[in-house]
Amino acid sequence: MSRKKTSAAADPAGLTPIEAAAEMAHLAKQIAHHDRLYHQKDAPEISDAAYDALRNRYRALHEQFPHLAPKDDPEKRVGAAPAAGFSKVAHAVPMLSLNNAFSDEDIEDFTARIRRFLNLPDDEALAFMAEPKIDGLSASLRYEGGKLVQAATRGDGTTGENITANVRTIKNAPHTLHKPHPDVVEIRGEIFLNRDDFMKLNKAREKEDEALFANPRNAAAGSVRQLDSSISASRPLRFFAYALGEYSGKPFKTQEDIRAQVKHWGFTVNEPSRLCATTKDLLGYYHELESKRHALPFDIDGVVYKLNRLDWQERLGFISRAPRWAIAHKFAAEQAETRLNKIIIQVGRTGALTPVAELEPVTVGGVVVSRATLHNQDEIERKDIREGDIVRLQRAGDVIPQVISVDLKQRPKNSKPFKFPTHCPECGSIAVREEGMAVWRCTGGLICPAQAVERLRHFTSRLAFNIEGLGDERIMELWKDKIIHSPADIFRLHRHRKALEERERLGEKSVTKLLDAIEARRTISLDRFIYALGIRQVGEATAKLLARHYRTLANWRQAMMAARKEDSEAWHDLDNIEQVGPLLARDIVAFFEEKHNRDVLDDLAKELTVGDFESRATGSTQISGKTIVFTGTLAKMGRSEAKAKAESLGANVSGSVSSKTDYVVVGEDAGSKAKKAKELGVKILNEDEWLKLAGDQ
Ligand code: IVH
Repeated sequence: MSRKKTSAAADPAGLTPIEAAAEMAHLAKQIAHHDRLYHQKDAPEISDAAYDALRNRYRALHEQFPHLAPKDDPEKRVGAAPAAGFSKVAHAVPMLSLNNAFSDEDIEDFTARIRRFLNLPDDEALAFMAEPKIDGLSASLRYEGGKLVQAATRGDGTTGENITANVRTIKNAPHTLHKPHPDVVEIRGEIFLNRDDFMKLNKAREKEDEALFANPRNAAAGSVRQLDSSISASRPLRFFAYALGEYSGKPFKTQEDIRAQVKHWGFTVNEPSRLCATTKDLLGYYHELESKRHALPFDIDGVVYKLNRLDWQERLGFISRAPRWAIAHKFAAEQAETRLNKIIIQVGRTGALTPVAELEPVTVGGVVVSRATLHNQDEIERKDIREGDIVRLQRAGDVIPQVISVDLKQRPKNSKPFKFPTHCPECGSIAVREEGMAVWRCTGGLICPAQAVERLRHFTSRLAFNIEGLGDERIMELWKDKIIHSPADIFRLHRHRKALEERERLGEKSVTKLLDAIEARRTISLDRFIYALGIRQVGEATAKLLARHYRTLANWRQAMMAARKEDSEAWHDLDNIEQVGPLLARDIVAFFEEKHNRDVLDDLAKELTVGDFESRATGSTQISGKTIVFTGTLAKMGRSEAKAKAESLGANVSGSVSSKTDYVVVGEDAGSKAKKAKELGVKILNEDEWLKLAGDQ
C-alpha cells in the first residue's frame, strides 16, 4: 500500500530563498520521519491527509526553488528502504503491485484493453478469477524440497526483508508442503489479521498503555517486523496465498488450477472467490461483496480480478510494476454522517494543541466511532467545521476516521465559526503559532499539567525508561496529588509506599511490582536517557546518534552548554553530526537553554546512573572511541561507507575538525579541513592509511 497523493499545493510565494531552504530542510526531515514510521515501524503518527499536506507544501516549494532541495530530497525517494535489523532477500521473481480501478467504467476499460491487446474477437470468452483484496502485508514464502526455507516481505519489489522466523509462527502457513510438490516453489500471499483479533490486540495494548495500531494492515506489518519472533508468535497472524513466484514444477494452465494446487499443498486461499465469464459477472461479484463485506471476518478494501488463462497472462505481461492481466477494484471508503457535539483541544507533550471532534457515536465500516482528529486550525477553517454541525466521516481502513465535509443545509441557525483558543485549555498560558507552522503551542512549559503528564508518559514509555505499571491514568492521578511532578519523582516513589498502598485499586502486591519495575531502571543507557527527555524532534534514532557522538552524559551536557554560543566549535560539531541539521540542533540547544530543564537533569543525576554509550563493535579496536573527520573524495570506499565503517568500529565521526579530533582522513581535493588539521597538529591519514587502520588491507 502506498500513501495516496493529492495535488493541492499551498502557495510558497513571498518566501526568501533562505526561508524556503530552511522550511524545505525541515519538511524533508519530517517527511523522512513519517515515511520511516509508516514504512518501517508501521506506526504512523499522522493521518494520510496531514502527511499529504506536508508533501504538497514540500512539492510547492520544490517547484519554485528546485536548487534549494536538501540532500535527502523526498521528491527523489519512494517509500523507505527495508528496515535495518533484518537481512535482505533478493526476490528471484520481482514482487509486483496492482493497478487500481474505482468505477464500473474502469473495469469495462480494463477488459476492453485486454481484448485489444490479445486481438480477441468479441465472442471469445474472457474468464477472470475474482477474489477479495485484503489490505495486509505481502510476503513470499519459499519452499525447497517441500520445506519452508525462507520468507520475505515485498520491500521495494526487488529486495525484501528476511522474515522467516516470524512467518514460521503463523499457524496457517505450512512448514511442510503436502505431496506431491516441486523442488522449488515460492508462494506469494498476504499476511493479515482478522478484524476481531485486531480489535482485541488494540484493546490489550490500550490497557498496557502502548500505542494503538491505526488499522489491521499496520498491526499485521508491525507484528511481522518484530525482530523478536516471540512477539509475532503472540499475534494471531494469518496468511492467504494468491500467486506463485519462482516455481520448478509442471506448468499450470489457469489461475483456477493454481488456487486448487496451492490449497492442496496446505494453504488457505481467500474466499469467497468466483470464476467470472463476463464483465457483468465481475461487477455482480463486486457489488455483492461490497454489500456483505462486514459479514467477512477480515477487512477488505476491494476485490482483485485476474485473467484466468496463464498463456494470456504471459502474453500480456507487465507495464511498469503492475500486470496488465489483473486489477484491483477498490471499494469506496466507508462513510457515515453524525453530529459533531463539541470540539475539544488536546495538549501534547511539546505543547501542541490538537483539535479533536467529539461525535455522536456512529458506526462507520463496522466500527463505532465517537472521536475524530481535526488536525489543526487551518483544517477546521478550510472545511468550516463548527460545533453542532452534521459532518460526514470517512474511514478508509483506518480506525481514526476523518471528517471530510459538513452538511451546510443542516447547520443550526445560531452556529458560529469555531474560534481556536488563544490560551491553553489546560493551564491558561498563552498559545502561539510559529510562523509557517500549522500548529498552535501552549507556552506554559512546566506549569502546564497536560504537557507535564504527557512528558512523564513519554519518559516512562517503552523506548524510554519502559516502566510498566505507570500508565496514563496513574501518572495523571499521581501528578494531581503532587506525588510525581518531575521525572526524578518517579525514582522517589518508594517514599510514598504507604500512601500508594492506601489508594484505590492498588494493593500491596501491585505497589511492590511497580516499585520493583522502577528500581530496575535506575541504570539506563545514554541513548534511552536522551530519548526519554522528550526534546522536540529528538526521536529514538536521533537519541542514538547523539549518544554515539557524545558517549557520556557529562560530555553531552557540557557540549550542549557550549553550543549555546552561536558559531562556537561545539555548535558546529553538533550541527555537523550526520542527519542533524541546524533546525534540530537548535531544538536540542534550546532545551539546555531552559534552566528548569537543567534542574531536571541535576535532579535525575541524583537518582540514576546513566551508562556511557557502548559501541556495537565487539572488543576494542584501534579506532574505538576516537573522533574521525573525513574530507575530500575517497577513491576506494564511498564517504558514507567509510563513515559507517568507522562507526561500526566504535569511532565517532564528526563533520568538523577541532582540537578533539584524533584523525582526519584526507581524500582527493581536500580543502580547508585538511588545512585546519595541520594547524591544530591533528594526525592526518591518506586513504590507504585509513583502510589499514580500519583493517581492510
Ligand atoms: S495478486 C502480480 N491478489 O494487494 C499481482 N494481490 O494493491 C500479485 N493483495 O501487492 C497480486 N489481496 O499485496 C493479489 N487477492 C489478491 C490480493 C492481493 C491483496 C495485495 C497484494 C498486492 C497489493 C496490490
